[in-house]
Amino acid sequence: MSTSQQSVPDVCEPVLEWGFAVPMMRWRLPEADALNNDLRAVILAREARGDEARVSNVGGWQSRADFLDGTQPCVVALRGHLISLIRSVMASPVGGDLSRIEGQIGLTGWANVNRDGDFNRVHDHAGSHWSGVYYVDTGRPDPGSELNGAIEFLDPRPSINMPIPGYRTASALAVTPSPGEFVLFPSWLQHYVLPFRGSGERISVAFNAQVKDYRLK
Ligand SMILES: [Fe+2]
Repeated sequence: MSTSQQSVPDVCEPVLEWGFAVPMMRWRLPEADALNNDLRAVILAREARGDEARVSNVGGWQSRADFLDGTQPCVVALRGHLISLIRSVMASPVGGDLSRIEGQIGLTGWANVNRDGDFNRVHDHAGSHWSGVYYVDTGRPDPGSELNGAIEFLDPRPSINMPIPGYRTASALAVTPSPGEFVLFPSWLQHYVLPFRGSGERISVAFNAQVKDYRLK
């Protein structure tokens, strides 16, 4: 067990501090249509070649975890955005000051294609620090299907048997993404993808990041 000690605030008013909050980050890439069109073409071409891994997906298609090693301009661009996002979350504890952080980011990623009825089982991304998903396409969901294709995160705190009024204490947190959106979370956080119901393809790129030699300057 490791213990972190809270400093005593030097204030006269009550201060709310979050003891065990889970850091998560969302970001929407502006004007992502061109990038998404290129990524979509690269991913569907790779799927058509039959290059497949199967990890958490039930139905659907998942590439091997070398997708971000690709040299296509759209893949290189996506990799650059991911590095920027991860550097951003690394710098959040120091107010977002990127000049204060040092560290090497190791990045792996894989592409996912889910069609009608496909989903992903509960899993985490053990062995990395940060994980996440970039959404290339969210297909054409059937109307009226709640949380259609959403990614849901499980609250890691055990046994919240008396929710505190006014505070979010649901057992799961659902994110319904749209194309061009990044979702970043700690790799240990369990999650799953609800079945997609609709036409077209729900295309995403998932990634794992390992941070080595992290240091604050
Ligand atoms: Fe995942």
